[in-house]
Amino acid sequence: MDKPLTSKLRGDGTVVDIAAYERAGGYEGLRKALGLQPQDVTEIVKRSSLRGRGGAGFPTGLKWSFVPMGANAPSPKYLVANADEMEPGTFKDRVLMEGDPHQLIEGMVVSAYAIQASIGYIFLRGEYHLSAQRLRAALAEARARGYLGSNILGSGYSFELYLHVSAGRYICGEETALLNALEGKRAHPRTKPPFPQVSGLWGKPTIVQNVETLCNIPHIVANGTDWFRGLSLSEDGGTKLYGVSGKVNRPGLWELPLGTTIREILEEHAGGMRNGLRFRGVLPGGASTDFLVEEHLDTPMDYTQVQKAGSRLGTGTMVVLDDKTCPVGMVWNLEHFFAQESCGWCTPCWSGLAWTEKILLAMEQGTAEKQDLEVLRFQTKFLAPGNTFCAFAPGAVEPLQSALKYFSDDFRRHVDEKRCSWRQ
Ligand SMILES: Cc1cc2nc3c(=O)[nH]c(=O)nc-3n(C[C@H](O)[C@H](O)[C@H](O)COP(=O)(O)O)c2cc1C
Ligand code: SF4
Repeated sequence: MDKPLTSKLRGDGTVVDIAAYERAGGYEGLRKALGLQPQDVTEIVKRSSLRGRGGAGFPTGLKWSFVPMGANAPSPKYLVANADEMEPGTFKDRVLMEGDPHQLIEGMVVSAYAIQASIGYIFLRGEYHLSAQRLRAALAEARARGYLGSNILGSGYSFELYLHVSAGRYICGEETALLNALEGKRAHPRTKPPFPQVSGLWGKPTIVQNVETLCNIPHIVANGTDWFRGLSLSEDGGTKLYGVSGKVNRPGLWELPLGTTIREILEEHAGGMRNGLRFRGVLPGGASTDFLVEEHLDTPMDYTQVQKAGSRLGTGTMVVLDDKTCPVGMVWNLEHFFAQESCGWCTPCWSGLAWTEKILLAMEQGTAEKQDLEVLRFQTKFLAPGNTFCAFAPGAVEPLQSALKYFSDDFRRHVDEKRCSWRQ
């Protein structure tokens, strides 16, 4: 099976340098792209059915087609790699950047060429020190070989790419908050419209794209859309990096066809549950997605099917709940994180999440009252899409709303018995 994103990664954890990257066919996608018209590159990506791997799953080529093109287009245009990756349980972009930084750089130059951006930034999570070190070295290598800078490979096209290390808040991953942070402003989300494709960084057309999304681009251009669509078991193209954390035998990350079932990922790749523990549920796409349970194990992990099952593909990195872990405690832990990370811009979010976290903690400590269950249910509606300024708050209550649906007995027992029975 083809694993374009990870096949070059080294088992010993060392980095793929530029010589090894070129030997494996690296920068061939860029050479091919530079021989095409920019709009043709966008058309190829559109036909490939690549959807964004950062969480929302928006079709990548379609997003690029909104960028103004031609001599009268605003200038400069920007391309930003979203490498913030602060979603609890998610570590896929780190693996790509640490192991094979040139893949991201090539993906960015090809993408920038398609939209005719002249400046790019990699917006990197502050804690990713090894990624920063390896990306800096790879940027220097790429510049020295003529893959970056002015007149790339003699094509007449120029693109400068900079690494920006984030000061560090979860909300910086939301693309418009990220743009504010890059501009040196407070990192709160911006109103949309206008969308960044038209008015982004410093008011100029900007594409923000997830690291995994960008890493796919050179392979699509080099190998074609039929090849890319053929990698997938679903209607959308490509492979997907799927991760599993929790009490399984082999927590990890695997590149598999998009649409591989949850069961196959958990049982074959993650080695099943550890030490006789039983599977109880899974957050399929990182912390801010709804729980799925046993009846959903045969769901293909793609955008459409996971949504049909009642959750979201999100980042594709799963967090597993077993039968010896308290679901209320697990959800409290997540809401504690989200309450801390609210950017404070709108009241339902900063106030609602703080309240939610307080009630969940009271349940764990045995001091919650019966009516608190209703307050929790109310909060999930209060923070639903449309009631807050950005998608952070609705995402934050997804694990809670689904836990209240699937594990309601556990919540009730905490209130009735005034204790958490897992703590005894
Ligand atoms: C609170 C919040 C945090 C986010 N964090 C990230 C992140 O760390 N990385 C990422 O790629 N997308 C993140 N996103 C999604 C981005 O806003 C955006 O949709 C994405 O970067 C677009 O890239 P894609 O189309 O390649 O997925 C986040 C969204 C929200 C609402
Ligand atoms: S929903 Fe939360 S994170 Fe988003 S703008 Fe409002 S306060 Fe900030």
